[in-house]
Amino acid sequence: MADAIASVKGMNDILPPDSAAWQRLEAAARGVFTAYGYGEIRTPIVEHTELFARGIGESTDVVGKEMYTFEDRAQRSLTLRPEMTAGCARAYLEHGLPGREPVTRWWYGGPMFRYERMQVGRYRQFWQLGAECFGVAEPTLDAEQIAMLHALFSQLGIAGLTACINNVGSGDDRVRYREALVTYFTPHAASLCGDCRRRLAQNPLRILDCKVDGCRAIAADAPQPVAYLSDGTRAHFDGLQAALGEMGIPYRLEPRLVRGLDYYTGTVFEIVSASSALGAQTTVVGGGRYDGLVEQLGGPPTPAFGFAFGVERALLAMGADGAALTAKPALYLATRGAAARQRATALAQALRGRGLVVEVEHREVGMRAQFKRAEKLGSTWVLALGDDELAKGEAMVRHMATRAEQPVSIASAAASGPLAELLATPR
Ligand code: HAM
Repeated sequence: MADAIASVKGMNDILPPDSAAWQRLEAAARGVFTAYGYGEIRTPIVEHTELFARGIGESTDVVGKEMYTFEDRAQRSLTLRPEMTAGCARAYLEHGLPGREPVTRWWYGGPMFRYERMQVGRYRQFWQLGAECFGVAEPTLDAEQIAMLHALFSQLGIAGLTACINNVGSGDDRVRYREALVTYFTPHAASLCGDCRRRLAQNPLRILDCKVDGCRAIAADAPQPVAYLSDGTRAHFDGLQAALGEMGIPYRLEPRLVRGLDYYTGTVFEIVSASSALGAQTTVVGGGRYDGLVEQLGGPPTPAFGFAFGVERALLAMGADGAALTAKPALYLATRGAAARQRATALAQALRGRGLVVEVEHREVGMRAQFKRAEKLGSTWVLALGDDELAKGEAMVRHMATRAEQPVSIASAAASGPLAELLATPR
């Protein structure tokens, strides 16, 4: 036998019954996002590398260290998307949305790729569900998206989540804050890691996001962005908190929160989980305002706000049990003989048309084994169909939990008659 080929490190298969939990989460997200007026966008998994370099920022870890970048056969530099916001901003411009509608609301779901060190809750291919809104500068929109997530996670019964909010400033406040950071970190430069010494010159805000212990200790006393907010930004931040308060959405101010991507201006937020199932990766959702991104990509000034959450992390926080969510067959058709199997296959076809989950045993195996399998699958009913039953035109259907049996006609008309009625009756 040839050597078996494994999946790529950090990239996972999702099999049943786990996929049932994914489907539940996705269905709930689709329902909630739709209720808030978001329409689904699907973009290519591959984009020009330049989009992420310009949109997310060269000095971020994502662009500097984590992208899956390759040249195609025409020597174009392409990258597997590490996130969706840049792609959405590109699509927003490419399809002329700024001139077509004042407000654009999109949601998305799909795989993202980052070459990160793997841990529980951190993978190289992971799924995000997210939303982006273009065209609204007011803080009630920021609050509405946070409330949308609150509604979704409440519906899914995910407990122990906290929304942490901050404001990293924009425009002039950002310039003043940058200067304050340079002033603070410069005397500590020799104690910073190599990356952070470079960040000090290029983008000192990134130092606050460094995971190296020494840098974290120094950053602990660094100035906080909220102290540098202009009156306008301060009013926006107050407006966000007032709107969250009026809706009763719980949140915590997190003055040290900065995000790992460069496009953020103003509001930033994360939702963190207290669940131990997530290990060190406690952040489930990340998002915020990015009022400069569309312009940076060549479009008109456009306020925007969005978020994304990691599906794997949300499922861990949920403690989702795919097996419990998997649809069980209403009927398992145990068969013996080719003629009986053919009839059973036709009967099942008609019953499924009535919305029932039906499974047929197509293999020639003993009846005992078939009943065992039906039990394992959690089927409510079993109908055993062999040549004798075919000849009589009648078979016993057994209710698996009570073991009660009753005769049913197996004429093909049964699919819309007594058998279908019986199977659809809750027991
Ligand atoms: P992000 O914070 O880089 O933001 O990622 C958002 C979420 O994706 C994280 O909170 C986490 O749940 C999940 N995630 C990120 N990396 C991994 C990984 N390696 N393995 C598993 N899950 C991961 C963004 O991506 C922004 N585009 C969010 C946004 C949308 N901001 C504005 N609009």
